[in-house]
Amino acid sequence: MYNEQVFTIFGGTGDLTFRKLIPALYNMEMADGGEYCPRIVVIGRREYTSSMYREKARDWVEKFARLSYKEEVYEKLAEKIVYYRMDFTDEASYEGLDAFYREMGAKKHIFYFAVAPRFFEIIVSGLHKVDGARDGKVVLEKPFGEDLAAAARLNEEMEGFFSQGHIYRIDHYLGKEMVRNIQTIRFANPIFSNVWDAGHIECIQISAMEEVGVESRGGYYDRSGALKDMMQNHLFQILTIVAMEQPKSQEVEDMHREQMKVLEALSLPENISESMVLGQYDGYRKEPSVRADSSTETYAAVRLFVDNDRWRGMPFYIRTGKKLDKREMQVAVVFKSPAPDIEPDILNIKIQPTEGVYLQFNIKKPGESVDVIQAKMDFCQSCSSVNQTNTPEAYERLIAACFKGERSWFSKWDQIEASWKYVDAIRDKYRLGGVPIHVYKPGSDGPDAAEQLLNSYGHSWFD
Ligand code: BG6
Repeated sequence: MYNEQVFTIFGGTGDLTFRKLIPALYNMEMADGGEYCPRIVVIGRREYTSSMYREKARDWVEKFARLSYKEEVYEKLAEKIVYYRMDFTDEASYEGLDAFYREMGAKKHIFYFAVAPRFFEIIVSGLHKVDGARDGKVVLEKPFGEDLAAAARLNEEMEGFFSQGHIYRIDHYLGKEMVRNIQTIRFANPIFSNVWDAGHIECIQISAMEEVGVESRGGYYDRSGALKDMMQNHLFQILTIVAMEQPKSQEVEDMHREQMKVLEALSLPENISESMVLGQYDGYRKEPSVRADSSTETYAAVRLFVDNDRWRGMPFYIRTGKKLDKREMQVAVVFKSPAPDIEPDILNIKIQPTEGVYLQFNIKKPGESVDVIQAKMDFCQSCSSVNQTNTPEAYERLIAACFKGERSWFSKWDQIEASWKYVDAIRDKYRLGGVPIHVYKPGSDGPDAAEQLLNSYGHSWFD
């Protein structure tokens, strides 16, 4: 059924392809014989032959794949990979690509744009010259556009070329196991669903901390920054799942509808400098392809509100940053304390690298004492080797979903549009308000000002 299918990656020598896509294809090969993916065309500018590329890809698989390396599995994957050298910004070169596809008998296409968003339009223009491309599917990496206006233009371009329902806007956080689990944790447990509101919760903190810096992506990142790279997409997706009303059904349309209502209810902070901290790690300006006077933020922490009946008045804190002391992504729900001298109950949904749920609540100190102490229950889902082997990584899930035509868990245009509107407005505000960029030490937990931001409201980041 998938025999005439060709999976083409634009940006075949980029960071995303070697860290995520090739390892995901290897895992799929191992898990199900790679049935969906019979042929893979990797497009890049470098002077590789297919066999040189396959050798490079072997290292990436050994280093980054979830499942352990097995020579025979890798060989099967490698046989499917063809490297095609071209400059994808040169429209004339698409005639050659068309001839190449004809020669290999490619009839059904999936194009994966693993390139910076500013190249999407030129690739689509080029694909006009490729027979059958219009009927193919396209997977677009985030960020979708660089701001609202660019995203809208791009969307028009995409929808004008590809058939309806063939555009897959990927947000790989939606493929993460514990992100998918948030709904179940919220709605299948009355102990949480009955107290999931501003009346019972003091604040909700969404953190995505990374140890890596910008690596080889300085050129892209410097035009983007933490707000556009992580917050506008991944973290807003999580925010909306955490804050939405229970969807009427499991259908993706119902979930999208509820997520949209949250995005529409986001209110802009009145005083931006009291609601936001931006940072840049020391040494960032010396990274390859980064401007020597760059003011791009590699860290952002924001305090925001969802102005609806459930959440009015309760702050959501969102932070993300690079070159920090740990890699950790979590959603911490801090409940209201029943009395000033009693610690709050805390539910922490651990998304990565450990997947699990931590719950902290109050008990009496054992023995004759009546003191209150905290019980800390820590459920680790990913600690079981069975779960680890059986749980596909986000990109595996989403690539397979695209092959099968399953459109749930991909971002919809209206969501992207609404989150750009918000992020653009925040950026305008902080440009006007002159929010400073705090320099922080690589390997630290970010700028001190981020802790002070929460302290000034009587809160602190949960670690
Ligand atoms: C990408 C961002 O979307 O997500 C990167 O562009 C970031 O800057 C990455 O490092 C993080 O993904 P993960 O799955 O490692 O948390």
